[in-house]
Amino acid sequence: MRLRFLPSFVKRRGRITNNQEENLKSLPDYSISTFDDIDPDPSKFSHCCLEIGFGNAEHLYFQAMNNPEVLFIGSEVYMSGIGTLIGNIQKEKIINIKIFPDDIRILLDENKDKQIFDAVKIICPDPWPKERHHKRRLINADFLKLLHNSVKSEGNLFISTDWADYAEGIKETLEKSTYFEPSDDFFLKKEFLTKFEQRGLDEGREIFEFNFQKKN
Ligand SMILES: C[S@@+](CC[C@H](N)C(=O)[O-])C[C@H]1O[C@@H](n2cnc3c(N)ncnc32)[C@H](O)[C@@H]1O
Repeated sequence: MRLRFLPSFVKRRGRITNNQEENLKSLPDYSISTFDDIDPDPSKFSHCCLEIGFGNAEHLYFQAMNNPEVLFIGSEVYMSGIGTLIGNIQKEKIINIKIFPDDIRILLDENKDKQIFDAVKIICPDPWPKERHHKRRLINADFLKLLHNSVKSEGNLFISTDWADYAEGIKETLEKSTYFEPSDDFFLKKEFLTKFEQRGLDEGREIFEFNFQKKN
């Protein structure tokens, strides 16, 4: 079967602990499978945000805990990260996180006319450092085209990376984009360094951040 998208991630499963395995049994209680499943009840939620590739979900979980009026959609394919997140959701009885446990491009591709996201965060997308793998990098013109359709007018797009040549590519792609423009406003600013950002710094790399918004 031909895949619609070239995989932008390295692994889906990885090593899974018994706790994560147990938590994953409850995934249907927290997951969405189509765009129509995102139905932010305006009596409960003022905004809706998407975090793509949440990894161990430390940032998603922190923002959801601290902003109960915002509905967060988290997308990840890495099953142990999803298992960890479900454990935290259950422990803290969090009701403002929904999980799309697959390639985010599948969900975005299916959406035709719902501009739902006030903000989108992509923190350290997989860097694919070897040149022959650059075509697997998530951030490219096709992806921005796919994404813009689901973002509200002036909705925020935040991307960070610790790989200088990926940063160059992201900058060029965003600057050429007809869908996004630079912004000084952040909606829910990133509050701390994630595991991957910290690892980048520890290994001597710099963190590059991009803050854009959807054009009117
Ligand atoms: C380098 S990790 C960064 C994790 C986290 N954001 C952090 O900073 O700690 C990138 C994550 O993005 C996920 N990912 C890559 N492509 C994706 C896609 N198309 N849809 C959803 N998640 C994706 C990977 O599985 C991986 O966990």
